[in-house]
Amino acid sequence: MSKHSLEQIARERRHVTQADMAKDLAALGLQTGDVVMVHSSMSSIGYVVGGADAVIDALLEVVGDTGSVIMPSLVRGGLSVEERFRIWDIEKSPSDVGRITEVFRQRRESLRSWHPTHAASAIGPLAHELTKDHQHASGRPSPWGDAAFAADSPWEKMCGLGAKYTFLGTNYRTCTLFHYIQALFAERSTTEFARTAPWPNFDFTEMGAAFEKRYPVTVGHVGEAETRLFMACDLRDFGLSALRDNPVPFFRKRPGDEFMIWHAEGRHRKL
Ligand SMILES: CC(C)(COP(=O)(O)OP(=O)(O)OC[C@H]1O[C@@H](n2cnc3c(N)ncnc32)[C@H](O)[C@@H]1OP(=O)(O)O)[C@@H](O)C(=O)NCCC(=O)NCCS
Repeated sequence: MSKHSLEQIARERRHVTQADMAKDLAALGLQTGDVVMVHSSMSSIGYVVGGADAVIDALLEVVGDTGSVIMPSLVRGGLSVEERFRIWDIEKSPSDVGRITEVFRQRRESLRSWHPTHAASAIGPLAHELTKDHQHASGRPSPWGDAAFAADSPWEKMCGLGAKYTFLGTNYRTCTLFHYIQALFAERSTTEFARTAPWPNFDFTEMGAAFEKRYPVTVGHVGEAETRLFMACDLRDFGLSALRDNPVPFFRKRPGDEFMIWHAEGRHRKL
């Protein structure tokens, strides 16, 4: 059964068109030529006239022919990592991180990276660059294997390409880039100490709040959806330095966390 009745949404919520969303996205700072990663919740926007396609078209309209849009295309389904590797089919496995991401993945011009747990889909001139070689990536261990957040993953490439990052009706809690930061930090600790740090399982919401105090994050609305826009590389830089210098606030709700014990031992100092 549907969480939200569409009739109810149509009756009670603001009707939001592609033109409205394009205007709102531009007001937030999205521009022609941008590369932008989008996490989304369609029901947060209001009643979207034209559904998920209208949201996708609004994003593509604002970045224009020279810009690229990228979305998570993750398969989770409550399955273990091993099961997800077993059932993965790049053509058929649906993205289960929101309706907009699944419609985006199915667009004819959409390219998807090859990864059973942390694929991304992209449209635009940089789509090929962003999504290629995920299947050949390796060398950066994570709970999802050593390719998910490796150098050839879209998650690292988007930072290198100066991508913007947006939460369209979502928030830091479902920010996949935080997993990339965790993997990068764990990798750096190994390089420096020949000893891997325990996985830094920090509180995403707390880290997001602290990030906003230090780096520019534009907060506005797309339709009725609270929306944030910032630079992917800013979040990466902030996350890495916070884990190195003062991770305490981000583990408050996790007393006795293995990472904090490792950090308290002074293992992080040379990072
Ligand atoms: C989980 C999540 C996707 C749920 O958001 P949501 O708005 O409820 O769901 P979707 O974005 O899939 O949109 C579908 C819902 O929009 C509603 N909807 C359908 N057509 C609509 C329209 N034209 N206008 C507005 N809402 C509409 C429907 O009620 C539908 O709900 P249903 O599937 O229960 O029928 C969202 O909260 C979230 O976390 N998004 C980020 C996910 C992510 O990127 N994760 C990354 C790793 S953890």
